Amino acid sequence: MSKSDSALAALFDAARAAQGAAYAPYSRFHVGAAIRTPGGAIFSGCNVENAAYPQGACAETGAIAAMAAAGERRIAEILVVGDGEGLCTPCGGCRQRIREFAAADTPVHVAGPAGVRASFTLGELLPHAFGPEHLSA
Ligand code: THU
Repeated sequence: MSKSDSALAALFDAARAAQGAAYAPYSRFHVGAAIRTPGGAIFSGCNVENAAYPQGACAETGAIAAMAAAGERRIAEILVVGDGEGLCTPCGGCRQRIREFAAADTPVHVAGPAGVRASFTLGELLPHAFGPEHLSA
């Protein structure tokens, strides 16, 4: 296994572990996400739903919060894992949340229970994105 293969495998394992902790009693759709920072640290999150449905949070949101709480500010790579046949691509809101800490060429991997199914760049998922640099004069 190459170094990048084992790095991706570690990201998948972290996302799967987080998926196992998902709190999704309403949708029953369990999602895990894991972020690798440029320094190699991994942060994960799961979806956490709420009886007041709109207050639920996506797995990516949790992983980003864990990363930020550790003082990290860059996403080198992110992986999202969900069950079912379809690709569990990040929702629109999470694409923008990822954008805050990532670049157009940042890889976004989408996995199912058996492993990675597809890999995109953030720019493919969120073209012509608005980001922090747009606010600097
Ligand atoms: N969900 C995520 O956590 N991440 C995604 O990328 C797609 C959807 C969650 C939100 C909700 O708890 C459940 O999956 C069904 O939409």
